[in-house]
Amino acid sequence: MTGVAELLWTLRERCGVDLRDYRADGLDRGLRRRMAETASADVAAYVARIGQDADEAERLLEAVLVQATSFFRDEAVFDALRDAVAPALRRGSAPLRAWVIGCATGEEAWSLASVLHDVCGPAFSVLATDLSAAAVARARAGSYPGRSISDALRARVTFARHDITGPRLAPSEAVVARFDLVLLRNVLIYFRTSLQERVIHRVAGVLPAGGALVLGPVERVPRSDARRFEPWPGVDEGARVYRRIGETT
Ligand SMILES: C[S@@+](CC[C@H](N)C(=O)[O-])C[C@H]1O[C@@H](n2cnc3c(N)ncnc32)[C@H](O)[C@@H]1O
Repeated sequence: MTGVAELLWTLRERCGVDLRDYRADGLDRGLRRRMAETASADVAAYVARIGQDADEAERLLEAVLVQATSFFRDEAVFDALRDAVAPALRRGSAPLRAWVIGCATGEEAWSLASVLHDVCGPAFSVLATDLSAAAVARARAGSYPGRSISDALRARVTFARHDITGPRLAPSEAVVARFDLVLLRNVLIYFRTSLQERVIHRVAGVLPAGGALVLGPVERVPRSDARRFEPWPGVDEGARVYRRIGETT
């Protein structure tokens, strides 16, 4: 067992998170950071350290997860959601249900909530989840320099820790396992192809025909599920908005 394999095994044991199908560059970055911060001379020394310090596995997990995000990141995407996608998803007075997967520190979820509030009034809900407990805590606090989150938005957004690669389809906070709209932006880039395929297949299962999936600018629906999605009609393909087609499995 190499040092890295042992670390991944320790993360599974201590944090219940399996990073074996994450891309090596992200794992290396996080590992190097924790090795520097713990003054570990090499991987073997860090493995010894993680064996002695019960909290270090959680710190390594947090170091591996990259939480870069911002309000209205890729403005064209939020314009498309406001002008084309959300109006099409509205079903009379029934609330539009959205799931933001990999919400990081919350900016994306609050941006989406603002757009949905403009389009639907209070008839929407946003579930926003992330694997990082620290990021979810910051997202839930919703405290950002120079920006305040209104009570009207706070009433509509729920944050929860959840691993989209783990055994549970959705967190217990999810009232339903069906969503009209899923944002999964800049998360698949950290996964190897096999894990991207597993996650998209899972997401396809919570979207009814006609539902919308939004990926990040350099992400695509993997070939394994390509027949379940088409580019959202009338929206520039660069926005990576897809419409779920066919039967929901
Ligand atoms: C680069 S951020 C993207 C944030 C936001 N979606 C955006 O595009 O601005 C990637 C996020 O994915 C989260 N993530 C990574 N693996 C995850 C998993 N297995 N389940 C849920 N979230 C995960 C990370 O913690 C991080 O917050």
